Amino acid sequence: MRILVINGPNLNLLGLREPELYGKRDYAALCDYVNQQAAELGLEAELFQSNHEGAIVDRIQEAYGRFDGIVINPAAYTHTSVAILDALKAVGLPAVEVHLTEPREREDFRRVSYAGLACTARFAGQGFDGYGQALAFLAGYLSE
Ligand code: DQA
Repeated sequence: MRILVINGPNLNLLGLREPELYGKRDYAALCDYVNQQAAELGLEAELFQSNHEGAIVDRIQEAYGRFDGIVINPAAYTHTSVAILDALKAVGLPAVEVHLTEPREREDFRRVSYAGLACTARFAGQGFDGYGQALAFLAGYLSE
């Protein structure tokens, strides 16, 4: 099973970016973690990170027919992007929302998740582990 793992803006700066919130490990470490978890679950993961909303929309569209599911941390676009929500709905692939932190416990403007409206499950506030849980969820969901 092929899973596309999408990370939105500023997640390329993990390690540097607000380490008290997001931790000290960098984006390369996240990629290693995701690839290792995917391998353990017998999944093939492809990682994509972009700071650009349209690039994320393009990548979701291109996933149709090529991937079996999507894990997405839309980062700040979680709270603003109807375009990403619509792209997820358009392709109709099973999608899981992930956040390193728990946005619902932060500022009010982080309470809304547009992308989440198109997602089957959500894992938040567990750092890198949330990605592993999202992959495990999709492995189970897709084999049902
Ligand atoms: C985030 C939470 C978002 O509110 C924030 O804009 C991010 C990261 C997270 O992983 O905790 O960039 O998605």
